[in-house]
Amino acid sequence: MATVLLIGSGAREHVIAEAFKKDKETKLYSYIKSKNPGIASLSEDFEIGSYDDLKRIQNYAKKIKPDFVFIGPEDPLKNGVVDLLKELKIGAIGPSKSLARLETSKSFTRNLLKKYKIGGNPRFGIFDKKNVSGAKRFVDGLGQCVIKPDGLTGGKGVKVQGEHFKTKNSALEYCNEALNSHPAVIIEEKLEGEEFSLQCLTDGKTVIAMPPVQDHKRAFAGDIGPNTGGMGSYSCENHLLPFLTKKDIEKGLKITQKAAEALHKETGEYYKGVMYAGLMLTKDGVKLLEYNARFGDPEAMNVLPLAETGFVGICNAIISQQLHKVQIKFRNKATVCKYIVPEGYPDSPVKNEKIEITGIPENGRIYYASVEQKGDGLYMTASRAIACLGIADNLENAEKIAEYAAKSIKGRVFHRSDIGTKGLIDKRIAHMKEICKN
Ligand SMILES: Nc1ncnc2c1ncn2[C@@H]1O[C@H](COP(=O)(O)OP(=O)(O)O)[C@@H](O)[C@H]1O
Ligand SMILES: [Mg+2]
Repeated sequence: MATVLLIGSGAREHVIAEAFKKDKETKLYSYIKSKNPGIASLSEDFEIGSYDDLKRIQNYAKKIKPDFVFIGPEDPLKNGVVDLLKELKIGAIGPSKSLARLETSKSFTRNLLKKYKIGGNPRFGIFDKKNVSGAKRFVDGLGQCVIKPDGLTGGKGVKVQGEHFKTKNSALEYCNEALNSHPAVIIEEKLEGEEFSLQCLTDGKTVIAMPPVQDHKRAFAGDIGPNTGGMGSYSCENHLLPFLTKKDIEKGLKITQKAAEALHKETGEYYKGVMYAGLMLTKDGVKLLEYNARFGDPEAMNVLPLAETGFVGICNAIISQQLHKVQIKFRNKATVCKYIVPEGYPDSPVKNEKIEITGIPENGRIYYASVEQKGDGLYMTASRAIACLGIADNLENAEKIAEYAAKSIKGRVFHRSDIGTKGLIDKRIAHMKEICKN
């Protein structure tokens, strides 16, 4: 019987909690920012506090004495919660502050791949206030470019030419602006292709890929509107994606295996946790856009429910660096996840609106995100509210289940009804064909 402490309070952590509680013996405790009804109902006990309050996390961990702690979101990793737990001699699934630079510093990761000659980088340059004069020459030497502030930006810092700005001059203006709040900016050549996420589990030595997933960042159907935290995602029963081959996935895994090895060489520490590779298939093969140091939200919902291997056992193997002995099996099912969000999300969401769940289909699942259970019902805050998941033998059926579940949530909400549909997937395949033709 394991005692597990889970940090985080979104839908991603709700599905992680569910994975732990598949083994009914597991005693789950949670450190949450707000009372997620799903996580709370699966936990023996929970503590509400901020991710910055390391003292509070420390006291709670000391009280619970868990076998290990699982860190869901990036903020506690950035704050060094794993280093703190190490001092307490408590194991963690999640990297130390230094290793979490894989996510928190895009310049660190680009340089790591370059130094250790790992493929997958686009052409890039890193500029700070001292050498920003070189940025103009660099931008002039690229076709279109992408500007990335160095540091966590909550998914809102990256600007892509043609989408967020038009000219090279505006690129340089944005570089200067970003340098006011960030130590450096990364300028990259703009890649063309289809994006996908390859979430990998690692003990620092062995790296295992979970089925690939495709997320949808734009707010509205047809991939239009502002970028969001992610409106939904899908995965396929053959553990590929309609535009991806097995070789492409192997390439993504290879990059990540080499990156894990490089991280050890570079820091002397073993990375234990999730290496989420944000990849793009281009006409020149698979490229790395970024790493995250944790599961994706929504992508965690697509993969964890498919795991047949017990999650507590997987985590124990990560901590004891025995992952090479574990066979992680995933069911051959397709999944579609759709997020219910408040009207006006993400720019001006309605706040504190009540929602009602009127009949989730028997084979559908829901995961709570930014909602609050009050005496008279369930209220949304101002962010993504509930993730609806369908699992089935094929995408068509998984989509139907997710869509039915999404429609059964009533209130001032909307969701993207096109995610996982044949129409949208055919567009992705056609896009990839078009790119490879040129
Ligand atoms: N080199 C690139 N070429 C084209 N698009 C890019 C490139 N880098 C990032 N993007 C786009 O910008 C989005 C956000 O960039 P990413 O590196 O994932 O940062 P974050 O998730 O921290 O905002 C990506 O999902 C992708 O759509
Ligand atoms: Mg990203």
